[in-house]
Formats: sequence, structure tokens, C-alpha cells
Amino acid sequence: MMLHLSSQIIGCGSYLPERILTNAELAQQLETSDEWIMARTGIRQRHIAAEGELTSDLATSAAERALVNAGVTAAEVDLIIVATSTPDDTFPATATRVQAKLGSTRGAAFDLQAVCSGFVFALATANNFIRAGQVQTVLVIGAETYSRIVDWSDRGTCVLFGDGAGAVVLRAANGAGGETAAPVGNRARGILSTHLHSDGRFRDILYVDGGPSSTQSVGHLRMSGKEVFRHAIASLTAVAEEAVAANDLKLTDLDWIVPHQANIRILDGVGRKLGLPAEKVIATVDRHANTSAASIPLALDVASSDGRLKAGDLVLMEAIGGGLTWGAVLARW
Ligand code: ACO
Repeated sequence: MMLHLSSQIIGCGSYLPERILTNAELAQQLETSDEWIMARTGIRQRHIAAEGELTSDLATSAAERALVNAGVTAAEVDLIIVATSTPDDTFPATATRVQAKLGSTRGAAFDLQAVCSGFVFALATANNFIRAGQVQTVLVIGAETYSRIVDWSDRGTCVLFGDGAGAVVLRAANGAGGETAAPVGNRARGILSTHLHSDGRFRDILYVDGGPSSTQSVGHLRMSGKEVFRHAIASLTAVAEEAVAANDLKLTDLDWIVPHQANIRILDGVGRKLGLPAEKVIATVDRHANTSAASIPLALDVASSDGRLKAGDLVLMEAIGGGLTWGAVLARW
């Protein structure tokens, strides 16, 4: 089988529900304050899906925008992967609903569940499908409606999350023939490497207390915040170093880091440990809050639309989430 050397992100899109919920509004319902939330998390506001607005609706809107941005039609898409832990239904996959809403009947569509690391896991999966020569064009979507699974009476968790979706179009960089692109090695544009990890021993520090097999209900998100914080700093630092070293690059070569947007203190802490200036860290957590698998593609769309991400830039995407799962994708934009 002919191996493609790389795959490239050729378009981004995102969608946020219209309704914005501010910290001040939350403070009217819960014993919390804008000052506490800002100081501990950097979150100012979050978007909340309207009644009847489903994860697949958010995902489809983000996907449509990414397709337009890439100049690709839905008919050209060979594979749709939706990273989500808030699917519309237990089954079928949200991805198949997105496929139908996009008006596509070709190729395959499936969901991928790696919680807040979902987009990184989905991008790695899509990249491997392309490198194996099985597909040419993939829609990789992160879409979530965490407002439906947070416990709105638990101030320690409900203030942290928001709803949204982001999508990228990934395409084989070298065409069907798999001819060598120039330049090659770590100067080539496209995904340079992907690094995935998980350790199920840490299930209990971040989980949902329900599911079809365990309780036959949806359940609510539960979290030991301090423990997640500690793991996040250590694992995100380690996987960034792993990705850069695997490509014979240095941390100082990075132009941008686009981390999962959980908490500004995690973003700042990882940036400091890696020795990266804050200007290189794309942060959207203030506006979007934690949108789990959607947070990285939402941030990519912001930074690509405002002109920060430029062709040839070295971009590290990284995330940690329930499982625990964590990982990184290093790409030359
Ligand atoms: N408003 C006011 N007070 C609050 C709130 C709130 N929203 N939430 C908790 N408190 C109180 C607690 O009850 C506690 O009060 P007490 O001292 O009287 O018991 C006090 O604030 C301190 O609570 P802690 O939980 O110890 O606060 P901490 O400093 O650890 O901050 C936080 C909590 C923000 C969740 C922090 O642990 C954190 O950011 N953890 C990372 C987890 C994360 O970001 N998870 C996202 C999902 S995982 C992921 O995406 C990777």
C-alpha cells in the first residue's frame, strides 16, 4: 500500500450557540462570584445551547464553515469523525447525523470518545487513515453540549464548562499518488507527528456518574479539581516535550501552542514550565470556557481567522481529559 507522507489542515470552522451565560448571571443562581471564577479559572462567560439545539447541530454548523473555508464540498469528504462525550443519543453516532445533515451519503462516519482529549485523538486517527492511503479528505469535528451533563447545583464544576463546536478539514498533502512533498522532514507543511496516552487508573478523578450500561441514565460530571489540575500540568508538559523531541526540534522552535482550554492557570503553568512566552499560547478560555473536545478546534479557528496562524508556523496542539487521556499533535501550518 502506498503511504502518504503527511496530511494537512486545509480549513477551519467553528460554531458557538447564541446564548451567552456570564459569571454575574451564575452568581444570581449559585454561591459564587465573577471574582472567584475569574481568579481561579480565567473564565468570563460561556455559550449555552438553546433548548432542542443538539451536539449534531453545533457540529454540522462548524463543519459547514470549515468546508467553505477549505473550499471543499461535503461530497468530497471520505470520513467524518466527531469527537464528543455529549452525543445526541446513546446510538447511532452523532457523526452519522452530521453526515446526513451535511447531505452526504458517501464514505464513513463515526464518533470518538476521549473526553477533553477527543479532538487530539480524532486528529491523530484521521491522520493515520490518510497516511495509510485509505482516505483523502476527512472532517474532524469536536462538538459538545456539556450544559446537559453538568450538575447545575455544583458550583465547583458547573461554572467551568460551555457548549460549542469546532471543525477542521484534513487532506492528504501529496495527492493519491503519495509523491514526496517538498520540503520534507520537520520543514514539511502538515501534521508532523501525533502522541496519544491514557491511564485508566485515574478514572475516578474525572467522570460522569451515569451511562447506558451502569445506571441506564445520562448522569452528571464529577471531578476532583485539584488532582486534575496536578495531572494536567505534568502530562501536558511531558507530552509537549515528547512531540518536539520526536521531530528533532526544540521547544523554542514552536510558534504557537494551542492547548485544550480548561483553565487559564493550567495554560499559564504549562507555558511557564515549557519556557514559552504567554503570547505564543492561544487562549480562548475567557470567552468559551471549557468546551471539552471542541476547545482546540474553536481556538484554531479564532487564531487562524485573526491571522495569528500563518503558513509554515510550527503549531503544537495538546490536551488532557477524563480517562485519563492526554496527547499532542505537532503540525506545520
Ligand atoms: N465559587 C465560589 N467558591 C467556590 C466555587 C465557585 N464556583 N467552587 C468551589 N468553591 C469553593 C470551594 O467550596 C472551597 O471552599 P471551602 O474552602 O470553603 O471548602 C474553595 O472554593 C476552594 O475549592 P477548591 O476546589 O479547593 O478550589 P481550587 O483552588 O482547587 O479551584 C478549580 C477549583 C478551579 C476547579 C481548580 O481545582 C481547577 O481548575 N482544577 C482543574 C480542573 C479543570 O480545569 N477541569 C476541567 C475538566 S478537566 C479538563 O478539561 C482537563
